[in-house]
Amino acid sequence: MDWGMKNRMARIINPRTGRAVMVAFDHGYFLGPTQRLEVPRDTITPLLPYADTIMLTRGVLRSSVDPESCANVVLRVSGGSSIVGPDLSDEGLTTSLRDAIRLNVAGVGISVFVGSEHERQTLLNLAELVNQGEEYGIPVLGITAVGKELEKRDSRYLALCCRICAELGTHIVKTYYCEEFEKVTTSCPVPIVIAGGPKLETEMDVLEMTYNAIQQGAVGVDMGRNIWQNDHPVAVIRAIRSIVHENNKPKQAHDLFLSIKNEESKKVASV
Ligand code: R5P
Repeated sequence: MDWGMKNRMARIINPRTGRAVMVAFDHGYFLGPTQRLEVPRDTITPLLPYADTIMLTRGVLRSSVDPESCANVVLRVSGGSSIVGPDLSDEGLTTSLRDAIRLNVAGVGISVFVGSEHERQTLLNLAELVNQGEEYGIPVLGITAVGKELEKRDSRYLALCCRICAELGTHIVKTYYCEEFEKVTTSCPVPIVIAGGPKLETEMDVLEMTYNAIQQGAVGVDMGRNIWQNDHPVAVIRAIRSIVHENNKPKQAHDLFLSIKNEESKKVASV
Protein backbone atom coordinates (compact mmCIF):
# COMPACT_ATOMS: atom_id res chain seq x y z
CA MET A 1 0.00 0.00 0.00
CA ASP A 2 1.43 3.37 -1.00
CA TRP A 3 1.92 6.31 1.42
CA GLY A 4 -1.16 8.23 0.28
CA MET A 5 -3.46 5.23 0.61
CA LYS A 6 -2.03 4.37 4.05
CA ASN A 7 -2.32 7.97 5.18
CA ARG A 8 -5.95 8.18 4.11
CA MET A 9 -6.78 4.84 5.71
CA ALA A 10 -5.29 6.19 8.97
CA ARG A 11 -7.67 9.16 8.72
CA ILE A 12 -10.58 6.68 8.64
CA ILE A 13 -9.39 3.89 10.97
CA ASN A 14 -7.49 5.32 13.93
CA PRO A 15 -4.09 3.54 13.99
CA ARG A 16 -3.92 3.86 17.80
CA THR A 17 -7.07 1.78 18.40
CA GLY A 18 -7.57 0.12 15.02
CA ARG A 19 -11.16 1.39 15.17
CA ALA A 20 -13.37 3.92 13.42
CA VAL A 21 -16.25 6.22 14.33
CA MET A 22 -17.81 7.42 11.10
CA VAL A 23 -21.01 9.43 11.05
CA ALA A 24 -23.23 9.19 7.97
CA PHE A 25 -25.11 12.25 6.74
CA ASP A 26 -25.61 11.09 3.15
CA HIS A 27 -29.26 10.01 3.40
CA GLY A 28 -30.53 12.98 1.37
CA TYR A 29 -28.92 11.62 -1.79
CA PHE A 30 -31.94 9.37 -2.27
CA LEU A 31 -34.32 10.35 0.59
CA GLY A 32 -34.30 14.14 0.24
CA PRO A 33 -34.70 16.11 3.49
CA THR A 34 -34.65 13.23 5.96
CA GLN A 35 -36.08 13.89 9.43
CA ARG A 36 -33.56 15.83 11.59
CA LEU A 37 -31.30 16.29 8.57
CA GLU A 38 -33.49 18.97 6.99
CA VAL A 39 -30.84 21.66 7.53
CA PRO A 40 -27.62 19.67 7.20
CA ARG A 41 -25.32 22.27 8.75
CA ASP A 42 -27.36 22.33 11.97
CA THR A 43 -27.18 18.55 12.30
CA ILE A 44 -23.55 18.12 11.27
CA THR A 45 -21.77 20.97 13.12
CA PRO A 46 -22.23 19.82 16.75
CA LEU A 47 -21.08 16.29 15.88
CA LEU A 48 -17.89 17.23 14.03
CA PRO A 49 -15.59 17.15 17.09
CA TYR A 50 -16.60 13.56 17.86
CA ALA A 51 -16.60 11.99 14.38
CA ASP A 52 -13.38 10.47 13.05
CA THR A 53 -14.90 10.87 9.61
CA ILE A 54 -18.13 12.21 8.21
CA MET A 55 -19.81 10.57 5.25
CA LEU A 56 -21.82 12.77 2.92
CA THR A 57 -22.23 14.00 -0.66
CA ARG A 58 -20.18 16.78 -2.26
CA GLY A 59 -23.23 19.05 -2.37
CA VAL A 60 -23.77 18.94 1.38
CA LEU A 61 -20.02 19.07 2.06
CA ARG A 62 -19.53 22.26 0.03
CA SER A 63 -22.70 23.96 1.26
CA SER A 64 -22.82 22.89 4.89
CA VAL A 65 -19.38 22.09 6.30
CA ASP A 66 -16.69 24.72 6.88
CA PRO A 67 -13.37 23.74 5.28
CA GLU A 68 -11.66 25.13 8.41
CA SER A 69 -13.36 22.42 10.48
CA CYS A 70 -10.66 20.03 9.15
CA ALA A 71 -13.25 17.24 9.03
CA ASN A 72 -12.10 13.95 7.55
CA VAL A 73 -14.50 13.12 4.76
CA VAL A 74 -15.66 9.91 3.14
CA LEU A 75 -17.49 11.17 0.10
CA ARG A 76 -20.53 9.35 -1.24
CA VAL A 77 -19.97 9.08 -4.97
CA SER A 78 -22.85 6.85 -6.09
CA GLY A 79 -26.49 7.77 -6.68
CA GLY A 80 -28.91 8.58 -9.48
CA SER A 81 -32.11 7.08 -8.06
CA SER A 82 -34.58 8.17 -5.40
CA ILE A 83 -37.05 6.76 -2.94
CA VAL A 84 -39.97 7.76 -5.21
CA GLY A 85 -38.40 6.42 -8.41
CA PRO A 86 -38.90 2.96 -9.91
CA ASP A 87 -35.80 1.27 -8.49
CA LEU A 88 -33.40 2.42 -5.79
CA SER A 89 -30.75 -0.02 -6.98
CA ASP A 90 -30.34 1.70 -10.35
CA GLU A 91 -27.26 3.68 -9.30
CA GLY A 92 -24.29 5.06 -11.18
CA LEU A 93 -21.19 7.03 -10.24
CA THR A 94 -22.14 10.64 -9.51
CA THR A 95 -18.82 12.25 -8.66
CA SER A 96 -15.42 12.10 -10.33
CA LEU A 97 -12.32 11.17 -8.38
CA ARG A 98 -10.85 14.44 -9.64
CA ASP A 99 -13.52 16.32 -7.70
CA ALA A 100 -13.07 14.02 -4.69
CA ILE A 101 -9.34 14.82 -4.70
CA ARG A 102 -10.13 18.54 -4.97
CA LEU A 103 -12.22 18.07 -1.79
CA ASN A 104 -9.23 16.43 -0.07
CA VAL A 105 -11.24 13.36 0.90
CA ALA A 106 -10.03 10.53 3.10
CA GLY A 107 -12.06 8.06 1.06
CA VAL A 108 -15.02 7.54 -1.23
CA GLY A 109 -18.16 5.45 -0.68
CA ILE A 110 -20.39 3.60 -3.12
CA SER A 111 -23.42 1.32 -2.73
CA VAL A 112 -23.79 -2.12 -4.24
CA PHE A 113 -27.11 -3.91 -4.59
CA VAL A 114 -26.36 -7.63 -4.58
CA GLY A 115 -29.32 -9.74 -5.69
CA SER A 116 -31.11 -6.82 -7.32
CA GLU A 117 -31.84 -6.21 -10.97
CA HIS A 118 -28.85 -3.84 -11.03
CA GLU A 119 -26.41 -6.13 -9.27
CA ARG A 120 -23.96 -6.27 -12.19
CA GLN A 121 -24.05 -2.54 -12.87
CA THR A 122 -23.44 -1.59 -9.24
CA LEU A 123 -20.68 -4.15 -8.75
CA LEU A 124 -18.92 -2.95 -11.89
CA ASN A 125 -19.30 0.63 -10.63
CA LEU A 126 -17.51 -0.45 -7.47
CA ALA A 127 -14.76 -2.23 -9.39
CA GLU A 128 -14.21 0.84 -11.59
CA LEU A 129 -14.07 3.10 -8.53
CA VAL A 130 -11.46 0.80 -6.96
CA ASN A 131 -9.41 0.97 -10.19
CA GLN A 132 -9.42 4.75 -9.96
CA GLY A 133 -8.93 4.78 -6.19
CA GLU A 134 -5.84 2.59 -6.47
CA GLU A 135 -4.45 4.95 -9.09
CA TYR A 136 -4.72 7.99 -6.83
CA GLY A 137 -4.35 6.40 -3.37
CA ILE A 138 -7.96 6.82 -2.30
CA PRO A 139 -9.66 4.10 -0.22
CA VAL A 140 -13.07 2.87 -1.32
CA LEU A 141 -15.87 2.08 1.14
CA GLY A 142 -18.26 -0.51 -0.32
CA ILE A 143 -21.76 -0.05 1.10
CA THR A 144 -23.99 -3.12 1.14
CA ALA A 145 -27.71 -3.54 1.38
CA VAL A 146 -29.83 -0.43 1.47
CA GLY A 147 -33.54 0.02 0.78
CA LYS A 148 -35.35 -3.11 -0.28
CA GLU A 149 -32.15 -5.14 0.09
CA LEU A 150 -32.41 -4.68 3.85
CA GLU A 151 -35.22 -7.22 3.91
CA LYS A 152 -32.47 -9.79 3.43
CA ARG A 153 -30.63 -8.81 6.59
CA ASP A 154 -29.17 -12.17 7.56
CA SER A 155 -25.60 -13.35 7.92
CA ARG A 156 -25.67 -15.47 4.79
CA TYR A 157 -26.75 -12.60 2.56
CA LEU A 158 -24.59 -9.95 4.24
CA ALA A 159 -21.52 -12.23 4.21
CA LEU A 160 -22.08 -12.71 0.47
CA CYS A 161 -22.30 -8.94 -0.10
CA CYS A 162 -19.27 -8.10 2.04
CA ARG A 163 -17.10 -10.81 0.55
CA ILE A 164 -17.94 -9.72 -2.98
CA CYS A 165 -17.02 -6.12 -2.12
CA ALA A 166 -13.71 -7.31 -0.68
CA GLU A 167 -12.99 -9.53 -3.68
CA LEU A 168 -13.54 -6.56 -6.00
CA GLY A 169 -10.91 -4.65 -4.06
CA THR A 170 -12.84 -2.40 -1.69
CA HIS A 171 -10.71 -1.25 1.25
CA ILE A 172 -13.49 -1.08 3.87
CA VAL A 173 -17.02 -2.49 3.84
CA LYS A 174 -20.10 -1.02 5.44
CA THR A 175 -22.90 -3.40 6.28
CA TYR A 176 -25.60 -4.06 8.87
CA TYR A 177 -25.42 -5.91 12.14
CA CYS A 178 -27.27 -9.22 12.17
CA GLU A 179 -27.51 -12.48 14.09
CA GLU A 180 -24.35 -14.59 13.74
CA PHE A 181 -22.51 -11.45 12.67
CA GLU A 182 -19.13 -13.11 13.16
CA LYS A 183 -19.89 -15.20 10.06
CA VAL A 184 -19.91 -11.90 8.14
CA THR A 185 -16.69 -10.55 9.64
CA THR A 186 -14.64 -13.74 9.54
CA SER A 187 -15.30 -14.32 5.86
CA CYS A 188 -14.49 -10.74 4.85
CA PRO A 189 -10.74 -10.07 4.60
CA VAL A 190 -11.07 -6.27 4.87
CA PRO A 191 -12.34 -4.13 7.78
CA ILE A 192 -16.09 -3.86 8.34
CA VAL A 193 -18.07 -0.98 9.84
CA ILE A 194 -21.76 -1.18 10.66
CA ALA A 195 -24.56 1.19 9.71
CA GLY A 196 -27.22 1.73 12.33
CA GLY A 197 -30.36 1.43 10.22
CA PRO A 198 -33.65 3.07 11.25
CA LYS A 199 -33.77 4.59 14.73
CA LEU A 200 -33.92 1.94 17.46
CA GLU A 201 -36.23 2.23 20.45
CA THR A 202 -33.67 3.01 23.15
CA GLU A 203 -30.13 4.31 23.44
CA MET A 204 -29.17 1.03 25.13
CA ASP A 205 -30.24 -0.83 21.96
CA VAL A 206 -27.83 1.28 19.92
CA LEU A 207 -24.99 0.83 22.39
CA GLU A 208 -25.52 -2.92 22.65
CA MET A 209 -25.58 -3.27 18.88
CA THR A 210 -22.33 -1.29 18.64
CA TYR A 211 -20.70 -3.35 21.39
CA ASN A 212 -21.81 -6.67 19.92
CA ALA A 213 -20.63 -5.70 16.45
CA ILE A 214 -17.18 -4.75 17.79
CA GLN A 215 -16.97 -7.94 19.86
CA GLN A 216 -17.77 -9.91 16.72
CA GLY A 217 -15.10 -8.32 14.57
CA ALA A 218 -16.33 -4.96 13.24
CA VAL A 219 -13.77 -2.14 13.40
CA GLY A 220 -16.41 0.47 14.11
CA VAL A 221 -19.55 2.22 12.97
CA ASP A 222 -20.70 4.37 10.10
CA MET A 223 -23.94 5.39 11.73
CA GLY A 224 -26.50 8.08 10.98
CA ARG A 225 -30.09 8.11 12.22
CA ASN A 226 -29.42 6.44 15.56
CA ILE A 227 -27.11 9.34 16.36
CA TRP A 228 -28.68 12.47 14.90
CA GLN A 229 -32.34 11.51 15.18
CA ASN A 230 -31.81 11.19 18.93
CA ASP A 231 -32.74 14.21 21.07
CA HIS A 232 -29.17 14.14 22.45
CA PRO A 233 -26.93 13.37 19.47
CA VAL A 234 -23.69 14.51 21.11
CA ALA A 235 -24.32 12.31 24.14
CA VAL A 236 -25.03 9.33 21.87
CA ILE A 237 -21.94 9.74 19.72
CA ARG A 238 -19.72 10.19 22.76
CA ALA A 239 -21.14 7.01 24.29
CA ILE A 240 -20.57 5.15 21.01
CA ARG A 241 -16.99 6.48 20.85
CA SER A 242 -16.35 5.14 24.33
CA ILE A 243 -17.27 1.63 23.16
CA VAL A 244 -15.40 1.82 19.88
CA HIS A 245 -12.19 3.49 21.03
CA GLU A 246 -12.08 2.77 24.77
CA ASN A 247 -13.65 -0.70 24.90
CA ASN A 248 -16.40 0.43 27.26
CA LYS A 249 -19.21 -2.02 27.97
CA PRO A 250 -22.78 -0.95 27.00
CA LYS A 251 -23.66 -0.16 30.64
CA GLN A 252 -20.60 2.12 31.08
CA ALA A 253 -21.37 3.81 27.77
CA HIS A 254 -24.99 4.27 28.81
CA ASP A 255 -23.91 5.87 32.09
CA LEU A 256 -21.73 8.24 30.07
CA PHE A 257 -24.70 9.01 27.81
CA LEU A 258 -26.88 9.84 30.83
CA SER A 259 -24.25 12.07 32.46
CA ILE A 260 -23.66 14.07 29.24
CA LYS A 261 -27.42 14.31 28.67
CA ASN A 262 -27.92 15.61 32.23
CA GLU A 263 -25.10 18.16 31.82
CA GLU A 264 -26.74 19.38 28.61
CA SER A 265 -30.13 19.67 30.33
CA LYS A 266 -28.60 21.66 33.23
CA LYS A 267 -26.94 24.07 30.76
CA VAL A 268 -30.24 24.60 28.93
CA ALA A 269 -32.07 25.17 32.22
CA SER A 270 -29.52 27.76 33.38
CA VAL A 271 -29.85 29.89 30.22
C1 R5P B 1 -27.38 4.49 3.06
O1 R5P B 1 -27.06 4.05 2.00
C2 R5P B 1 -26.58 5.50 3.61
O2 R5P B 1 -25.26 5.25 3.18
C3 R5P B 1 -26.55 5.69 5.11
O3 R5P B 1 -25.41 6.41 5.34
C4 R5P B 1 -26.49 4.44 5.90
O4 R5P B 1 -27.67 3.74 5.81
C5 R5P B 1 -26.09 4.67 7.38
O5 R5P B 1 -26.97 5.38 8.04
P1 R5P B 1 -27.95 4.78 9.14
O6 R5P B 1 -27.09 4.48 10.33
O7 R5P B 1 -28.92 5.89 9.36
O8 R5P B 1 -28.56 3.54 8.58
